Amino acid sequence: ALVYEWSGLTQLGKALEQQLGLQHVLVVPGDYNDDETVLTLLGKEAAQQFLSTIANEQVVAVTGGKSVASLAQFLQPVDHQQNITFVAARGGIGHEMHMQANTLVATFAMQMDAQHRTLFLPEHLSEQAYQAMLTEPMVTEIMAYYDRADCVIHGIGSAEEMAIRRNTSAEDLRILEEKGAVSEAFGYYFNAEGQIVHRIRTIGIQLEQVEKCKHIIAVAAGKQKVNAMLSYFKVAPKQTIFITDEAAAKAIAERL
Ligand code: G3H
Repeated sequence: ALVYEWSGLTQLGKALEQQLGLQHVLVVPGDYNDDETVLTLLGKEAAQQFLSTIANEQVVAVTGGKSVASLAQFLQPVDHQQNITFVAARGGIGHEMHMQANTLVATFAMQMDAQHRTLFLPEHLSEQAYQAMLTEPMVTEIMAYYDRADCVIHGIGSAEEMAIRRNTSAEDLRILEEKGAVSEAFGYYFNAEGQIVHRIRTIGIQLEQVEKCKHIIAVAAGKQKVNAMLSYFKVAPKQTIFITDEAAAKAIAERL
């Protein structure tokens, strides 16, 4: 019965792959919103995908969040990966130390016996501070890494949840709502049509740099994120490998 279950999920993944126009969609059983242990399956599958795509001398940009954090325990050194560098895809994210990009790159690097680069900056910079930061050597160094990134591992958030998590001001929350922000990925907010409606003013990887990457691993699960997923997949680069759970995959399939 279990084999049958998994093969059903493989079919579901294949159907979504075609409909969303992505390179690969992998579906793990369960519903993350009902059962947090689904995150373990998600992390295991995502880590396997990542380890099978990684090659020597590659730069891997990593965003924050629980979904990306779920890969950590399944990462391990593999023969064909010398000189991997994990780079924090963005500056800080306020409170949640254990799931911010800076923490995750350090953990991933430790697990894989690889290098890492962090970037500690406030989440929201004033225009003036932002312009000044752009000339700082530590910032130009990390931006050079973004430019040559081979792979990105990222989560997809619901715009509202991410704005709250980031302590966005009441004024900015109102703007996001007014602009119809539905999803968030790498600090960009997208509307239901997949258009960028807002970007957090902090140093981070640009969408154009993500698009140039050979491999993109997107990890997100739970029915509650379905609107966000559908919004982001309107713009997701074709080379994206998406790892999700059964509940989200079924809900997406019903909407396509
Ligand atoms: O950008 C979106 C967030 O990384 C999603 O975070 O995986 O904790 O829901 P999460």
